[in-house]
Amino acid sequence: MRKILLLFLCVLFYGGAQAADVSLLLQNFGGFKAGDSLRVTDYLGNPSSYSSSVLEKDPKNSFNLAVHVKTSGEELFVEIPLPDGMTSKTATEGRDRISFRFYRSAADGASRSCKFFVYFGTTKVYSDASSVSQGTAGEWQTRTYSITKATNTKTVMRLGMSASRGDYYIDDIKVIGIDYMYDYTDPTQTARFYADQVGKHLGVAVNPGLGNDRMGQTVYRNFNMVVCENAMKFDATEPSRNSFSYSGGDIVVAFAQSHKMFVRGHALCWHSQVPSWVSSNGASATTDNGWTKQQLLDILKNHIFNVAGHYRGKVIQWDVVNECLDDNQPDMNSYKLRSGSVWNYVIGEEFIDSAFVWAHQADPDAELYLNDYNVGPWQGNPSWEVGKTHALYNLAKRLKDDGIPIDGVGLQSHTSVGNVSLPDIKRTFDEFQNIGLKCIITELDMNQDGASETAQADKYAGMVNIINTHDNAPSIVVWGTDDAHSWIEDSETKKPLLFNPDFSAKKAYLSVVQTFKDYSILMENKPIYMESDEDDSDIVTVYNLMGQKLNCSTRGDVQNLPLGLYIVNGKKVLIR
Ligand code: XIL
Repeated sequence: MRKILLLFLCVLFYGGAQAADVSLLLQNFGGFKAGDSLRVTDYLGNPSSYSSSVLEKDPKNSFNLAVHVKTSGEELFVEIPLPDGMTSKTATEGRDRISFRFYRSAADGASRSCKFFVYFGTTKVYSDASSVSQGTAGEWQTRTYSITKATNTKTVMRLGMSASRGDYYIDDIKVIGIDYMYDYTDPTQTARFYADQVGKHLGVAVNPGLGNDRMGQTVYRNFNMVVCENAMKFDATEPSRNSFSYSGGDIVVAFAQSHKMFVRGHALCWHSQVPSWVSSNGASATTDNGWTKQQLLDILKNHIFNVAGHYRGKVIQWDVVNECLDDNQPDMNSYKLRSGSVWNYVIGEEFIDSAFVWAHQADPDAELYLNDYNVGPWQGNPSWEVGKTHALYNLAKRLKDDGIPIDGVGLQSHTSVGNVSLPDIKRTFDEFQNIGLKCIITELDMNQDGASETAQADKYAGMVNIINTHDNAPSIVVWGTDDAHSWIEDSETKKPLLFNPDFSAKKAYLSVVQTFKDYSILMENKPIYMESDEDDSDIVTVYNLMGQKLNCSTRGDVQNLPLGLYIVNGKKVLIR
């Protein structure tokens, strides 16, 4: 962004219904321009003479300017003036979240764990509860925090960390207002609308029999993808040998088609929910159940050809193999398969390779996934998931390297607010992206477990943000519509999902809408980047769109051009 933005999303009411947001975009906020400094102070506003902040080139995009903050001293903050006429009190009235982009430079150290703070005037409106990872250096991250209200009449806000020194950039600050009484009959207020805009699947697990009641409407108005919670599993689709039943799945597919929704398939091969004719001792089979390896391979192949064949062209993604990894992994460089599985016990590891090959033959257009639970963070927290995440990576990479038609991995994400560590999960998406595999969230539910509804909303927003910002992440799916319809025990207490039992929207839902919406706005306005490492000459040739050459020869000149599109060194660049 050329200047710091303070975007206030105001809400107008009439007759109880919500009108469209009125966004106030302050492009030249505070009259701040390249080379200008903002004050760095303690929380009372006392300046720090050893610290600085300057509006200068974004280290990743030399046509963007961002505030570069350097602090030396504990708890120092960059001070940002509020727009004219606004005070801490009026700025936080009816607005309950702040979002901004944040970049730690290499000079700040590869990693940093400390608290982040937001003040309005002298009121602390946000603080990390304890020291947390502030993300990897050298990458822009988008932060969204729930804020409390400030009642003071000071006209500045302050952002900063508890670390004794810091070197970071901040940009695109927004204070966001949300109306919790949303109108889901207005498509422009739904998550589906904005998920469509950014080109991502927002999915939900459902059961057959959805009507045009509140639940059915909640599903089709708010999501653009469904997955069967149980109806496409082995026990439902092949209850007795070679006798297939598609009744439940077909009902869900018909519902989805009538509402122009995508369907993802779950799951072709799993140790659990297999019929008793396959495994008389169910999920934890550690006997051969009387099958030879060849017999069970034939059963699996026949099942996959029939089920994936039946849904060919209707299901766009399949979980081909579900939960094949052991809960305890030996190290970070290998993987261990679950032993209690009839497939692994009788066939061995090749059941995985074969299942993917057969699924691809049965439906060459479907994307094929390896899905598992207790996976997500590449490092950090929760520690018990880190080893299994690496195992998933190692197995998926092995399959891909062996030429098996695998498109990606599914992170089930049955989790809780406290266990979602966003930078650690983001890293996992990066790692899969680096080896050409997709990574999606397939069964998200996030128990509150003592955390507030707003903390849950922030974590949901963070998950959606990871999906938005990764090209290898087409989908995010929640495992149920509302807190009364969830497989989680005591779900009405743990409140893991996006809607209340009466299908009113939770903060988590609204933050999902807002996150997709913010990203859709960002995509529309996306500057066409000219990376500095691609062309770091300071001499530029600039034309306007009329083909007239402009009197402009340095990047600094370009940054001072009026808003608009230009051709800079042969590339289209949006100056904002
Ligand atoms: C669950 C369903 O939600 C329940 O209704 C059913 O009784 C058991 O299975 N991982 C998976 C899902 O891959 O298929 C599981 O679904 C939840 C855990």
